[in-house]
Amino acid sequence: MATTEVTISPEDIQKSSAPERVPEPCIVVIFGASGDLTKRKLLPALYHLEQDGLLPENFAVVGVARRPLNDEFTQDMREGILKGGGVDPGDSRLRNFLARVHYHAMNFDDAEGYLKLKNLLETLDRKYGTNGGRLFYLATAPEYFAEIVEQLGAHGMARSDRAAVRVIIEKPFGHDLESARRLNDQVNKVFAEEQVFRIDHYLGKETVQNILVFRFANGIFEPIWNRNFVDHVQITASESIGIEGRGPFYEKAGALRDVVQNHVMELLSFVAMEPPVAFHAAPIRTEKVKVWRAIQPIQMEDTVRGQYGAGTVDGKPVVGYRNEERVNPESSTETFAALRFHIENWRWAGVPFYVRAGKRMAQRETEISIQFKQPPMLLFKDSIAAGKCNEIQPNIISMRIQPNEGISLRFAAKVPGPTMQSCPVKMDFNYATAFGVSSANGYERLLLDAMLGDATLFAHRDGVEATWSLITPMLEAWASTPPKDFPNYAAGSRGPRSADALLARDGRQWR
Ligand code: BG6
Repeated sequence: MATTEVTISPEDIQKSSAPERVPEPCIVVIFGASGDLTKRKLLPALYHLEQDGLLPENFAVVGVARRPLNDEFTQDMREGILKGGGVDPGDSRLRNFLARVHYHAMNFDDAEGYLKLKNLLETLDRKYGTNGGRLFYLATAPEYFAEIVEQLGAHGMARSDRAAVRVIIEKPFGHDLESARRLNDQVNKVFAEEQVFRIDHYLGKETVQNILVFRFANGIFEPIWNRNFVDHVQITASESIGIEGRGPFYEKAGALRDVVQNHVMELLSFVAMEPPVAFHAAPIRTEKVKVWRAIQPIQMEDTVRGQYGAGTVDGKPVVGYRNEERVNPESSTETFAALRFHIENWRWAGVPFYVRAGKRMAQRETEISIQFKQPPMLLFKDSIAAGKCNEIQPNIISMRIQPNEGISLRFAAKVPGPTMQSCPVKMDFNYATAFGVSSANGYERLLLDAMLGDATLFAHRDGVEATWSLITPMLEAWASTPPKDFPNYAAGSRGPRSADALLARDGRQWR
């Protein structure tokens, strides 16, 4: 099927104001169900939806993987749900929910296995009244995505004239532009684009969705959200964890593919996009794609890569990347990336967007900060208070995506006393204080939206290809010039020095 540009119809605009709907009956079929994601995120999320009364009554889950499991699978899912917290182990709802969780063992390239799966789903349709509704979830290793999609098509499971059939595809969606295009073609040969939900779990995070609410549900920020007032933007996605035993995956991925091409680019698009005409899939995706397409090709001097050596994280000694399990001892894979983007459009021309993402950094922190220009004249510069207030600091809006979720605004205030001394202070909004802590892991919202057929918080093929178009030349340039200085930052540090130099040469510094 040919690629379709994202277009906005009057129905799209109407749908955005439609009241909440309840999903139609369906079976969620998870491929790769023996993996960590199903136990840690997907089943706990489905159960949270059940607890909140948001699942359809006619509902079931089928886990599909190669290992023969059955009862063991249900036990494992129970453990995962309980570990997620906020669940009473004796709750009859949990028992009833788990009774609707099934398992099917098969190899993903085995035609016979798909026939049996089809029969199983039809039997479950009769048992639970799910009426042919399907939400397939591809949580396998990415090399199986195309095969599974093709087999679903070949076995007549990709369409139904009775109910909606949809497919969620996990990341990574391709490993460069060409492979992403190929996968898009393979998927769109079987499923129409409206059936496809490419997931990025960052879009399920409340704080990420809140970027849009902050910008577009308030009147006071949008007028200053542009090149006339903003000096630059910083996006930091640092993690204190390492690669968590995922050596073979990470060796092929690296920080650019693993988090920049998807999570970080999504954050950037939410910060930079124009107001969409409605909160619905097509208008939102259109605005996001416009941002990515306006980003200038990145020059090598605007990129920094790093790899962690041994160090100390949270007071404990940890090994360097090259000593992690199943990692090449001479690996050139980057565990840190910092980039300077230029968005050449009316709103952002001349405002650099600095982004950085890294593993084994000093702390876990995902934050976006919008740094504003200094006032035109520094009236109080000779009377800055001493100590921690000893420099004039620009206004900054910082959005803490995680942890300690919230938003703060830094501004100057007069220090009490007989002189006109100023000091930066913060106005702070904290999610937990304002709304209480939520047990949602982000997948609740996305699973529910996919069941409802709402693709607003999912990636469209145009978007995936636009971000890969930006990242692929960088990957190629890095691959052709192996790094000479790896490892170049200690685990538990703030990343390589060269990342500081990237901003320092513009007279700026990371927050
Ligand atoms: C995943 C990456 O997509 O996102 C991981 O593969 C990373 O390497 C994770 O750790 C970060 O997600 P979160 O929600 O913990 O910020």
